[in-house]
Amino acid sequence: MAATGPERFSSAEPEPRSLSLGGHVGFDSLPDQLVSKSVTQGFSFNILCVGETGIGKSTLMNTLFNTTFETEEASHHEECVRLRPQTYDLQESNVQLKLTIVDAVGFGDQINKDESYRPIVDYIDAQFENYLQEELKIRRSLFDYHDTRIHVCLYFITPTGHSLKSLDLVTMKKLDSKVNIIPIIAKADTISKSELHKFKIKIMGELVSNGVQIYQFPTDDEAVAEINAVMNAHLPFAVVGSTEEVKVGNKLVRARQYPWGVVQVENENHCDFVKLREMLIRVNMEDLREQTHSRHYELYRRCKLEEMGFQDSDGDSQPFSLQETYEAKRKEFLSELQRKEEEMRQMFVNKVKETELELKEKERELHEKFEHLKRLHQEEKRKVEEKRRELEEETNAFNRRKAAVEALQSQALHATSQQPLRKDKDKKN
Ligand code: GTP
Ligand code: MG
Repeated sequence: MAATGPERFSSAEPEPRSLSLGGHVGFDSLPDQLVSKSVTQGFSFNILCVGETGIGKSTLMNTLFNTTFETEEASHHEECVRLRPQTYDLQESNVQLKLTIVDAVGFGDQINKDESYRPIVDYIDAQFENYLQEELKIRRSLFDYHDTRIHVCLYFITPTGHSLKSLDLVTMKKLDSKVNIIPIIAKADTISKSELHKFKIKIMGELVSNGVQIYQFPTDDEAVAEINAVMNAHLPFAVVGSTEEVKVGNKLVRARQYPWGVVQVENENHCDFVKLREMLIRVNMEDLREQTHSRHYELYRRCKLEEMGFQDSDGDSQPFSLQETYEAKRKEFLSELQRKEEEMRQMFVNKVKETELELKEKERELHEKFEHLKRLHQEEKRKVEEKRRELEEETNAFNRRKAAVEALQSQALHATSQQPLRKDKDKKN
């Protein structure tokens, strides 16, 4: 037992003292309590399968969990990559597992593959966001929350024997900070043993030279360090999937039968299926879940909270205060709102002024038009008046002439009526 002098307490946080117990108390059952609680709660495990259409994703899942998940074949005509999650409740002994298999449907089928990774990244982020929202709730229920965060991405590589396609490299690079990637060479029975060996080396070389971080089986736990270290050297696993059973010797085994022989799925000389199953399910499932939470989710959470304005203070300044951050954010938001309001008010005033000016201009134009028309009208009126006067004068002149003519006519008439009388008188005389 370490002695603790009074000077030990001068530091900010006093070190706890170790004491030995006089007898059995019972807290050594804590691990059992933990196990019992976890078993009651059940586990969730979420696998994302990324690989081109028909590469053998569904077959491998069926083979891994030794069951038949209902899956439909994808067409090769999807407009863009679509994520299809399907959840199943599985039970082995007394352990309940909520397994979600997410298929990246239509991956690699588009002519333009530039954005193929985006729906996958968005899906992974959306699951992180759901979890973060649950965490930030006042009444959160993380105990029975269905955690849909992706724990592992099985990346199916086409067994070309050449090199990785740029689509594979781009997609894995985009995903590597968000999910644990385990690359696997699919349909490994279609490639010869020596080619496979070279292919594996080439793939690993390309991943390293392009800075793609794939999941490494942990070697810090003594119990699994050795096997994990050996398995890390076998990556990427070359797998064969089949749910078909073939008789080999006097045993029925899962295999793919060809005219020239039988490829046994669980034969380690034939493929790495057993290695994958061991590493993924039996040895490292909990580490994958743990890494997802402590590494990938933590990164997402940190970036998201920083984006929202939350920040841890550095050593010497005040500790992080949610209240202060909230107040600061609120003030920032209110001043932004005020600024926007002022901007909108100014915009409105400007608009009104503009409209007023336009209206005034229109009024002036109308007035000018009116004045012009008025002038035209007066001109017309003056002309008409002149014409009327002229006509009147003409009429008067005409009347005068007419009266003169009439007078002349009557004089002439009078004169002609007097002439016979004079003749008669002359005759009489
Ligand atoms: P989609 O969901 O439609 O994208 O296809 P998938 O990737 O789920 O492939 P699926 O499991 O449906 O398999 C497609 C074809 O490949 C089937 O005919 C399988 O029998 C065959 N297949 C699956 N695994 C292997 C394998 O390891 N080797 C060989 N040679 N064929 C395989
Ligand atoms: Mg499928």
